[in-house]
Amino acid sequence: MRIILVGYGVVGKGVTTILAKRYSEKVRDYGFNPKIVAIADIDGAVINPRGLSPEKLEAIKQRGYPISADPEFGKPGTPALEVIESVEAEVVVEVTPVNIKNAEPAISHITKAFKTGKHVVTTNKGPLALAMPALTELAEFNNVYLRFSGTVGGGTPMLEFAKRCLAGDRILGIRGILNGTTNYILTEMSQNHVNFQDALFNAQKLGYAEREPSMDIDGFDTGCKVVILSNWIMNKKITLRDVDRTGIRDVTLQMLEDAAKRGNTIKLIGAIDGEKATVKPTEIPLTNPLCVSGVLNAITFQTEFAAEQTLIGRGAGGIETASAVLRDLLDIRRKLAKNY
Ligand SMILES: NC(=O)c1ccc[n+]([C@@H]2O[C@H](COP(=O)([O-])OP(=O)(O)OC[C@H]3O[C@@H](n4cnc5c(N)ncnc54)[C@H](OP(=O)(O)O)[C@@H]3O)[C@@H](O)[C@H]2O)c1
Repeated sequence: MRIILVGYGVVGKGVTTILAKRYSEKVRDYGFNPKIVAIADIDGAVINPRGLSPEKLEAIKQRGYPISADPEFGKPGTPALEVIESVEAEVVVEVTPVNIKNAEPAISHITKAFKTGKHVVTTNKGPLALAMPALTELAEFNNVYLRFSGTVGGGTPMLEFAKRCLAGDRILGIRGILNGTTNYILTEMSQNHVNFQDALFNAQKLGYAEREPSMDIDGFDTGCKVVILSNWIMNKKITLRDVDRTGIRDVTLQMLEDAAKRGNTIKLIGAIDGEKATVKPTEIPLTNPLCVSGVLNAITFQTEFAAEQTLIGRGAGGIETASAVLRDLLDIRRKLAKNY
């Protein structure tokens, strides 16, 4: 499997690391032989049809140069779109920054990959939040696969659990804590009696929150995940505009203290209930399995036969999310093997 990696940041580096670490096991167990033939980032690209060496690229980055400065295979200034179009490969792994205004540059990368007959694995929520129904249709039309398990739950297999493990059941509703940053802030507020601004400042100091934190605290990130779950698991055709969304800016210490007196706490819950898709601060019992602390994520599937099933795990992290990319690559590998 020849792979073009677009984006070489936290997740991109995690992908090269995990592919190198698990390489021999995967060849042995699945006959899966991945080869990264090109990497493109904002400055340009490196291309080698025989496969690139992540160690060499890492050394170039460590010296403060872009990867396209590689003297042998570097192509400074070559845009990702050109790489996707011109380099022969089976899969594009798209891991550029999220953008929920117009989903660029990821949406152009993904559509270019489809149109040139390449499968796509992405961890980027932007294109899915804004255009998931159209993208899944375009993938089908071009006879290629689109996989995105790292977009919800990071390395925790929330999408696969629902799609595969609960396949014999019927999922009636979904509720989840899908954003680690807001969960950290609410945990700090409720357990350490820190006000919202101070809790946000702590989250920023620890690198859990961005300097511009709106994506997390106004519930956009959770909203994107609700859209992905709705489309993929509940067969709805919705986008971010259809999600009724409230963030956590107005949650006060007083509200949390009142909730605590009732044996409850307040969490930012993303939910799909019938036709409604919502994100809002919600009071839940402290004894509810969904009630996880800190940056953890949790999701509960309400099913017709197996009652409630809850999955808990880390919702982000470079290597964690890269493990979801590898899971998706193996899934595509299995699907392709069946089609031969
Ligand atoms: N980090 C996590 O834990 C996590 C978890 C789940 C999902 N995700 C999602 O995964 C994606 C990647 O996250 P990340 O943390 O790896 O981000 P990141 O560290 O910011 O890396 C993004 C990479 O994309 C490159 N890039 C930016 N614009 C580009 C363009 N036009 N063409 C080609 N490359 C471009 C950047 O290059 P420069 O560095 O040169 O700007 C950088 O190499 C995001 O959509 C994020 O939301 C991340």
